[in-house]
Amino acid sequence: MSTHVPLSSNHKLQTVSGIKISYVSSSKVVLEKGERDFPTDASVLAVLFIFQNPKSLAEGIEALNGWTKNKIEWIQLTQKIQELYDRGFLVDPEYAGALLTQVAPGSFEGPEVHLRMLNDKMRCQVFQKAIQETVQSGDLVLDIGTGTGILAAMAAQAGANRVIAIERVSAMAKKAEMVFGKNKLDSTIEVFEGNASQLELKEKADVILAEIIGNDPLEENILTTVMDAVNRLLKPEGKIIPHTLKLFALPLTIPSEVLERHFFTENHIQNWKNWYQLDFSSLSEPLDHPSHILHNPASTQNWNFLSEPILLAELLLKKTKGSDLEVKTQFEVKKTGLLNGLMICFEAVLSPSVTLSTLPEKVSPGNHWISKICLPNTSLKVNQGDTFDLTYRYDADQGSRIEVHSTK
Ligand SMILES: C[S@@+](CC[C@H](N)C(=O)[O-])C[C@H]1O[C@@H](n2cnc3c(N)ncnc32)[C@H](O)[C@@H]1O
Repeated sequence: MSTHVPLSSNHKLQTVSGIKISYVSSSKVVLEKGERDFPTDASVLAVLFIFQNPKSLAEGIEALNGWTKNKIEWIQLTQKIQELYDRGFLVDPEYAGALLTQVAPGSFEGPEVHLRMLNDKMRCQVFQKAIQETVQSGDLVLDIGTGTGILAAMAAQAGANRVIAIERVSAMAKKAEMVFGKNKLDSTIEVFEGNASQLELKEKADVILAEIIGNDPLEENILTTVMDAVNRLLKPEGKIIPHTLKLFALPLTIPSEVLERHFFTENHIQNWKNWYQLDFSSLSEPLDHPSHILHNPASTQNWNFLSEPILLAELLLKKTKGSDLEVKTQFEVKKTGLLNGLMICFEAVLSPSVTLSTLPEKVSPGNHWISKICLPNTSLKVNQGDTFDLTYRYDADQGSRIEVHSTK
């Protein structure tokens, strides 16, 4: 799936990591990353090489000048930049990255989070595909947490007879209502302003849509909300999108330049001493260190992942009984390095053929989720072959927490 966003000259770009390159001949090269592939020619390799480190479009175009024999070749090569960007092989490090880490979870009143969700084209398109595969004409569909109304609208377009768009944030419920009116879907979709737990129905629903997956995947109470809706509002043979949520932990090394944004490091303290002639060293007390940071998995291409993703839980939403989890498992280190973070990613199985993933090797470049990275109390030097016990806990008060201990 490709996105077309016209690039401006100061747009920063970087080659996405983990591209598989199949070189058949200079005129036949296939790039693959996750579920994306791009049959092209060998000239793209120059573009991927130039953008190994982040560069603006203008800088990249200038650098490509040295790679071509004449101006025509140069112009053709520069066109590859847009093609690679549209197909997600060049990504925008700022858009995909840590600048988005400041959004508070659960702040659905303002436009920002809804903008990011609608701009996450892959998210919207995979939900649309799953809705088209699942919703049958004549169905009653509940969209729990409709936000701007996008999934409810897709369900109506897929042939649902009646859709109830449930939204507890009053301002968003009103906006969704306007969206349905503008798109002439208001005869099919009705808005329920309130919490899904307050909705009562005379007839039971065929399908529940529940895109209430947080940055810390369970933080929007998807388990209890869906459990209640399944018990009271869904037909026994009814379907849920997503029907399964898999949680993973990824032990990794957070690069120092990322940690710098979250901690009062020596570097900052030295800079501030030079700039303001003030000693801020007391700010670096370990007490103030956060228990976690948030970072977009789409911008972790150059990070050191120390083991395979560790499956923490596979939650069938129709069958879950409670919201708290405690999971004990083990993992083996595949790469020697410093373990200073454990990122929590998810895979949501939306329908038989559609799974949405925030695992770094599968996540789409435009992904808007900013994953929680739990920080251990002390960083651990780990060696290939080492084994660790891992305990994952989730509760609504403290969210996800992870502890690791050497099995020795
Ligand atoms: C992650 S957003 C998804 C919005 C929209 N479905 C989309 O896909 O763009 C979740 C929305 O669900 C709403 N929400 C979460 N839990 C809810 C509940 N129990 N009842 C009603 N609304 C809920 C939030 O206010 C928010 O607008």
